[in-house]
Order: sequence, then C-alpha cells, then structure tokens
Amino acid sequence: MHTNRAARPPMGWNSWNQVQHHVTEDVVLAAAHALVDRGLASAGYRHVVIDDGWQATRRDAAGRIQADPGRFPSGMAAVAEQVHRLGLRFGIYSAPGVTTCAGFLGSMGHEAADAEQFAAWGVDFLKYDWCGADLATPEREVELFTRMRRALDATGRDVLLSISDYGVAQPWQWARGVAEMYRTTFDIWPTWSSVYSLLNQQIPLSRLTGPGCWADPDMLQVGNGDLTTAENRSHLALWCLMAAPLFIGTNLATAEPWLVDLLAHPGLLAIDQDPLGRGMVARAVDGELMLLTKELSGDRVALLALNHSGHDVERAVRPRAFGLDPARVPGLVDVWKDASLDPDEGLVVQLEAHACAVGIAQLAG
Ligand code: GLA
Repeated sequence: MHTNRAARPPMGWNSWNQVQHHVTEDVVLAAAHALVDRGLASAGYRHVVIDDGWQATRRDAAGRIQADPGRFPSGMAAVAEQVHRLGLRFGIYSAPGVTTCAGFLGSMGHEAADAEQFAAWGVDFLKYDWCGADLATPEREVELFTRMRRALDATGRDVLLSISDYGVAQPWQWARGVAEMYRTTFDIWPTWSSVYSLLNQQIPLSRLTGPGCWADPDMLQVGNGDLTTAENRSHLALWCLMAAPLFIGTNLATAEPWLVDLLAHPGLLAIDQDPLGRGMVARAVDGELMLLTKELSGDRVALLALNHSGHDVERAVRPRAFGLDPARVPGLVDVWKDASLDPDEGLVVQLEAHACAVGIAQLAG
C-alpha cells in the first residue's frame, strides 16, 4: 500500500455524468484533449476515467475482460496509450458484483484476472462500484474491496482505488488502507436540490476526510442539467470546501469559456487542494445564509456564505459569524474577485438565490 498515493483530493474527468453508459473512445479522447487544450490539465485535472458501459458482453476465451469492440474499436490499451501520451492518467470502472450498476460484466470471481488486464492496459485509477454485488454489510464490503486492492497491488502497478457503496456500510469507518477515496452518498443529479442534499449529507462526515483517503460526495455536475450560473459556481465552491475529489462530468469540448474558467478557478482549487486536507465545518445557519469554514495551511481559514434561500440577499458577514475572533483576523480576501477586503467590514454579500460568497481569512499567529 502506497500511503502517499493521494496526498491531495484526486482530480480529473469521468464519463458518467456526461454520457452515462453510452461511453465511446471518441468521447474519452475528446475529453482528454480538451483537458489539455483548455488548460484544465495544468489546473490539476489529470485523470481521465471511463465509467460504466465500456465492457463487452463476454470475456474472451482466456477469461479476460474485453472492451466493447463497437465503442472502443482501437482497444483499451491504445486508448490508454493516447491518454498517457497527453501526460494524463488513465482510469476505468468495474464492480465487485457479477454485474455492474448498469448491468455490464463485473469482476466478482475474476478479481486477479481483471486487475492484471487493467494493469496490462495501463490503468492508473479504478472506480470499483458496489451496486451489482450482494447485500452490503461492512464485513462483506471490506472483504470484496480488499480483494481488489490486493489484486491491484499484486500487479505491481500503482493504481488509485476509488470505491463506492454510497455510504451504506459507513465506509468512513474502514476505507483507509483499502482505497484512496470512498463515496459517501447516492448519485448526484444536475439539479440544485441534489447538490444541496449531498452537501447536507456530507457535513457530519467531513471531519473524517483527509490525506490518503478522501470522502467523495460524488462527481461534479458543473455545466449539466438546469443548474444556474450561481448554482454551478456554488456547487464547485462547496465541493472545494469539502476537500472533495473533483471529477468533471460535462462535455469539455463544447463547454462555454466561463465554465472552463470556473472549473480552473485557481483560488477555489487551492482551497480544495490545500495540503492540510481538512474537510468542511458548518458554523451556523443565519437566516438565508449557511456559513461554512475549512481550515487551511498557513494559519488561514476558508469562509463560505451560501444563500440557501430562493431569493436575493444583501448584507455583510463578519468573521465573528464564522466563529472567528475578530481581533485575530488581520486579513481577508474575496476569493471570487481575488481582492483584499477590510476584515472589519467582512464579506459583503450580494447574493442571488443559491449563490455563495467565498473568502479566506488570515489568522494572527
Ligand atoms: C452507480 C454510481 C455512478 C455510476 C453508475 C454506473 O450509480 O454511483 O456514479 O458509476 O453506477 O452504472
């Protein structure tokens, strides 16, 4: 087990939220090229992960799992090679059951062979997703997820393992040492009610996240569905305060420039990737505003005020409202504007529905 495999929350692109199981090599390679060409790879999004739906309907004569030849005509090794040539890491999906969540072939009973096949293809990341397996108990889950961890390690290839049981068997209690990230919730949808519900589910679990083993409140829907501009911005900002793994799930070849700029926002990504690796803390609900913090390195604290109401709000939020002693806050920065603020005046909040203000408070030593 490499303990430094995920010192920061992993970042990349995953096919699921964009195309569900209709994934093809063209979709994957277009995403890989867009990550590089649009500056997202250099912003930190380095994994290209093929989610469910890539598998052929049966194994080959030697029992090896195969890619669907219609959707991956070049074969998986060639796709991985092209991803690697772009300087990116290649990820794939399987399940500990006989079938995957979308009914494709899973790895149960074939763990060693599948791990070897993935390693031979050049896989660097495996999403291993429970729902086709039998009833979840912590013991059964630890057994099956550990079996794949060992199978991957036995190949000698350095593979990051992302497990999902949607929080059913409390993976925050046992995932460390098995996987580098664990889902805590059921699936995200491209709606504000889904984003807001996952936020609330993650809050009590956030203190258990950290370097090496990250809580995963599911992938980004930024750019998808009917999320408003404010909701897209808040979704990303909230995931950054949670220190969540950041997996883009929108079409990067066609995404508008403002969306790419949002996904690459250096101030937000620095909060997500802060080396301390702390999760989010809910400080208060103050009328229309939900006040959240995240401890950062360098005696700093990230502050986020979310307008969870359905109407506009205008007011100032001072450091004290976030639980900070105002005498100990000599500096305050507005992260969206990258501009210094007067800490006594606080974050001046003019927020439409579901928008958020984000600041970083400097604390006196
Ligand atoms: C589950 C997971 C999703 C996705 C699908 C694939 O629903 O939670 O993220 O991987 O399976 O079938």
